[in-house]
Amino acid sequence: MHEAFTVAIDGPAAAGKGTISKAVAAHFGFAHLDTGLLYRAVGRKTLNGAAALEAAQSLAAADIDRDDLRTPDVAQAASKVAADPQVRAALVDFQRAFARRAGGAVLDGRDIGTVICPNANAKLYVTASDEVRAERRFLELTEKGHDITLAQVLADLQERDARDSERATAPLKPADDAVLIDTTSMNIEAAISAAIAAIQVRIKG
Ligand code: DC
Repeated sequence: MHEAFTVAIDGPAAAGKGTISKAVAAHFGFAHLDTGLLYRAVGRKTLNGAAALEAAQSLAAADIDRDDLRTPDVAQAASKVAADPQVRAALVDFQRAFARRAGGAVLDGRDIGTVICPNANAKLYVTASDEVRAERRFLELTEKGHDITLAQVLADLQERDARDSERATAPLKPADDAVLIDTTSMNIEAAISAAIAAIQVRIKG
């Protein structure tokens, strides 16, 4: 059993972080937290008229465990509330407590390796070309019945990535010590294997 082994997985929207994080967590028997869901839950509440900071401060488990968080509108709202330093600050303790779980934890997001868990045992930065990320997200959304074009999905991702990378607080960027995994020409199995191999090295080391 690995005492409080923390894996940080960051990267832009739709790079494959979610799938990789779930697979890595299952492989090592670690718990997994998709931190994007925290921002999505806050963003969703603002779409219903709530103030972002109050929504972040009163976030409950039931707010995060919802199917309706995975829509383009909620994603944009999440990216907007995520630029507010007070909103981010309100979500830090929960994420750090999750990261310290005995038995190991995988957290994926934008600032896990840089801000939330700068001392993580393993850090990955997962990326892919804009076009490949847009195609993957387009397939996901259309399979779920969303009426959207590939061009809209691409524009949406690029807008979010720009906002997430250019904000002053905890911008999206690779930690200096992160292992880079570019999944542009990898299938999902290859991406998962690369992630597991990079983490395994840290467990042995
Ligand atoms: O990972 P995601 O696409 O579900 O995240 C939605 C938005 O939340 C993303 O555009 C920026 C924000 N986010 C963030 O700022 N920091 C994180 N650790 C995770 C997500």
